[in-house]
Amino acid sequence: MEMQSMIVVLTVLLVVGTGADYVRPLPRKTLHFPWSPKHSSHPQQVHISLAGDKHMRITWITIDKSSPSFVEYGTSPQSYNFIAEGESTSYSYFLYKSGKIHHTVIGPLEDDTVYFYRCGGNGPEFQFKTPPSQFPVTFAVAGDLGQTGWTKSTIDHIEQCKYDVYVLPGDLSYADYMQRKWDTFGELVQPLASTRPWMVTQGNHEKEEIPILKDGFVSYNSRWKMPFEESGSSSNLYYSFEVAGVHVVMLGSYTDYDEYSDQYSWLKADLSKVDRERTPWLVVVFHVPWYNSNYAHQGEGDDMTASMEPLLYAAGVDVVFAGHVHAYERSGRVYNGKTDTCGPIHITIGDGGNREGLAHEYLEPQPEWSIFREASFGHGELRIVNSTHAFWSWHRNDDDEPIRSDQVWITSLVGSRCLAERSHE
Ligand SMILES: *[C@@H]1O[C@H](CO)[C@@H](O)[C@H](O)[C@H]1NC(C)=O
Repeated sequence: MEMQSMIVVLTVLLVVGTGADYVRPLPRKTLHFPWSPKHSSHPQQVHISLAGDKHMRITWITIDKSSPSFVEYGTSPQSYNFIAEGESTSYSYFLYKSGKIHHTVIGPLEDDTVYFYRCGGNGPEFQFKTPPSQFPVTFAVAGDLGQTGWTKSTIDHIEQCKYDVYVLPGDLSYADYMQRKWDTFGELVQPLASTRPWMVTQGNHEKEEIPILKDGFVSYNSRWKMPFEESGSSSNLYYSFEVAGVHVVMLGSYTDYDEYSDQYSWLKADLSKVDRERTPWLVVVFHVPWYNSNYAHQGEGDDMTASMEPLLYAAGVDVVFAGHVHAYERSGRVYNGKTDTCGPIHITIGDGGNREGLAHEYLEPQPEWSIFREASFGHGELRIVNSTHAFWSWHRNDDDEPIRSDQVWITSLVGSRCLAERSHE
């Protein structure tokens, strides 16, 4: 025991020691994109997302309101053996009128296979790869993205890593009521988001609510439709999906979460359906962290924690990802404010690179559950190698290089006494 605390103290000293040499880069400016008008039926802002077993939703926007919503696709270039018809929507926000937003679900698709596709019979050919059906599978993770120079380096680094699915724990465009910025964000991320599924949940910057005049999440829900119907949810603000032996629950920090809410009942039902034989890994994602030792947003997650933490604990969740705080922090397994080997690991990763800059100030002393914390931009990679082992790494954007700054092997709760005891309760 004494030996262990010695090691902890030494590790802390080492971390503090290396931290002191690191010169932290300044926030970068918001990128300005020339808004180049395109042919009105040209597909813009293409992104894809998982849409139930073996299906993918293709989303794109056209200026032309009469453009059709079909997608042609196949497994070799320029040869489309399949076609699927979709739906479309649009919205207006005061003077701004969105283009036609097309959502088309295609499939059934083969696993781990490259598909070529074209949207609405027009424009360039795109391609994506479906995730594998078995381990290993890799998730890229970064929240609070925005559209600055740092965002650009974060997404360039994500592009360099071999990943299957991108998970975004809220705060996408930082449009903040300027609807045109949703369009420039869509263009900025298209090179990545058209090639791998982007699974997102909402943050405070998606709300854009104006009391009496505008409901919240109008733009977000129109543009970033997620598989909520496919997962039995009645709201785009919370849903779940499964990929290669991982069950991922995406929650909403800005919609009701109390015991009497729809989200709470849906979460309870969704967790009760998880079969750890089929999906040994259980991951939960939302925006406002429950375990955060940064001064920024201190205590904001407390109400949601009080309501939902017992559900996550009872289900044996392995990892929780959150954003909101513009820094990186990883906890040990924790529950009810204390280290607990049957609780989830909480990772705050709101460090995508938005214009508000970093959150530097931390509570001292560091809480016992907090293992690693650093205020830098970057991204994470969760490589799940088999039913019991996953390798987590966090890559800081240092001088535009993806430096691996934190890494740890995580073992799932499958087969542990934590789950065994509960199944007898
Ligand atoms: C899972 O992966 C880990 C790390 O590579 C390895 O040590 C372990 O033996 C693997 N387990 C199984 C059941 O293959």
